[in-house]
Order: sequence, then structure tokens, then C-alpha cells
Amino acid sequence: MSLAAVTPAIQPDQYRAVMRHFPTGVAAICSADQATGRPCGLIVGTFQALSLDPALVTFSIARTSTSWPKIRRTVMFSVNLLADGQQPVCRALAGKAEDKFAAIEWKHSAYGTPHIAGSLGWIDCTIQQELDGGDHVLIIAKVLEMAADDGDPLVFHGGRLGGFRESTAA
Ligand SMILES: Cc1cc2nc3c(=O)[nH]c(=O)nc-3n(C[C@H](O)[C@H](O)[C@H](O)COP(=O)(O)O)c2cc1C
Repeated sequence: MSLAAVTPAIQPDQYRAVMRHFPTGVAAICSADQATGRPCGLIVGTFQALSLDPALVTFSIARTSTSWPKIRRTVMFSVNLLADGQQPVCRALAGKAEDKFAAIEWKHSAYGTPHIAGSLGWIDCTIQQELDGGDHVLIIAKVLEMAADDGDPLVFHGGRLGGFRESTAA
């Protein structure tokens, strides 16, 4: 008998109820929309380091995303590591406004990608591989350039945005 026959499928509500206990950082994946010249982007909590040598990073994108096809077309894109205090940037880029960058301060990087002011780090990337991830696509990206400032990260946990608090176990 196959494993699929004896294990019931995990329902989305159960999946969400468990995964909400795992906190993530918040990253803005951005590029310049080739159709309008304006920056476009979306928020991911799935961004993570993958490989030191070669320098690779990874994140996953819902197949329903309308921003990712625009970013994907531009080949090069930026990952902006959001800082505590950039909650408005997160909300704007996770929304569906026509111009998500209307109230966001940003500048062009050497690669022409948008770098959001006040971010903790900026990573310019190019897509290396796209893998099937069910209702998401898993992106593996090659790092072209990266830099960071000091500061506290924006954290997503249990459906809420907040800061990082250090605690020491006795
Ligand atoms: C904290 C947070 C984390 C998110 N993580 C992801 C993610 O990892 N992958 C994803 O596809 N969408 C993620 N989203 C949702 C997208 O940012 C949101 O659906 C986005 O606005 C998609 O819109 P689009 O149609 O412009 O692509 C996240 C949203 C928030 C607020």
C-alpha cells in the first residue's frame, strides 16, 4: 500500500495553523517594470540564504503572483531586507495598488534595480533556477552584489509584524 493511501492530505488551515509559529524575516523582491519603467515588487517571508560558494539565495513565489512575471522578465532584481519600522513598505508591497512604490523612497542600484531607502540590506540577484514547489515556484538566485547597514530586522510571526527582542536563557 502506498504512503499516500494511508496518510490523509494536510488541509491548508492545518498547514497555516502550524507554520504561523515559525517566525521569518521580511524581504522585498523588486525590479523595474519594463512596460512602465516604474519599480515593481512584492514581499516574501520565504527568503533565505542557500549557498556561500557560489553565493546563492532562495525564496518561493505563489503561482498567482502578478508582480513576479514582471520581475522575472527583467533578469536582474533586488532583494531588500526590511528593517523594523518599514511596516508601511511591507504593507504597500504586499498589497495590490497600481503603483506600489507611490509612497516609497528608493534609488537605482548600479544594476538598475530599485533599492529601498532604510532597508537593512540590499542583494542584487539574477535567476539561476526555478523549481516546482506545488502552488509556489522555488527560486534559486545567484548573488551579483550585496551590502548591509546596521539595524534591527522586521519580523513576521503569527500574522503580525514586529521587531526582534534578544532574550537570554538562565
Ligand atoms: C510578511 C509577508 C510574507 C509573505 N511571503 C510571501 C512569500 O514568501 N511568497 C509569496 O508568493 N507571497 C508572499 N506574501 C504575499 C505577497 O507579498 C503578496 O501576495 C503580494 O502582494 C502578491 O501580489 P502580486 O500579485 O503583486 O504579486 C507575503 C506577504 C507578507 C505580508
